[in-house]
Amino acid sequence: MNNPQTILELFARKGDMAYEGESVSQIAHAWQCGQLARAAGASQALQLASWLHDLGHLLTDLSGTPTVQGIDDRHELSGARVLDAIWGPDVSEPVRLHVAAKRYLVATYAEYSARLSPDSVRSLALQGGPMDLCECIEFQGNRYALDARQLRSWDDAGKRPGWFASDTQHALNELHALMDRVHFLPARGA
Ligand SMILES: [Fe+2]
Ligand SMILES: [Fe+2]
Repeated sequence: MNNPQTILELFARKGDMAYEGESVSQIAHAWQCGQLARAAGASQALQLASWLHDLGHLLTDLSGTPTVQGIDDRHELSGARVLDAIWGPDVSEPVRLHVAAKRYLVATYAEYSARLSPDSVRSLALQGGPMDLCECIEFQGNRYALDARQLRSWDDAGKRPGWFASDTQHALNELHALMDRVHFLPARGA
């Protein structure tokens, strides 16, 4: 799992997977998040991060919906590890932080929790619940915090039933073309 082709194959094989409490398949969710990022004028790297932020869900061998079984699959970490090796932190860091962004937003915006999907609510408790003050300050200081918060907004909005590309192959072609436009960038300042 260290090149774009294997990621495309994984989506082709497991993209139809759906989670209890979510109204879309993994591939439709990925596609929707990518469309929302592009419409918002996000960089190519952040668009790709949006497409691939839940890659970690596809990397696991867990069956069913892990949160229902009380399991946190730590998908933000497993996905970010793969993406960092291929494209670097501009893609991997917003992915790594998209769960932290949820914990931050729940702690800082009272109305945010009400908009979460049932699976996001279930996973929140397993992921540590709302951030405390120290965690919020640390999160705010991360150079990728804004990217992660933007990604999170598309993540939460990208769960609309019935909104998808004409078919899975078209979605994968779109993803492939975006992958080709994003090149590896090492950590800034490194
Ligand atoms: Fe996620
Ligand atoms: Fe997601």
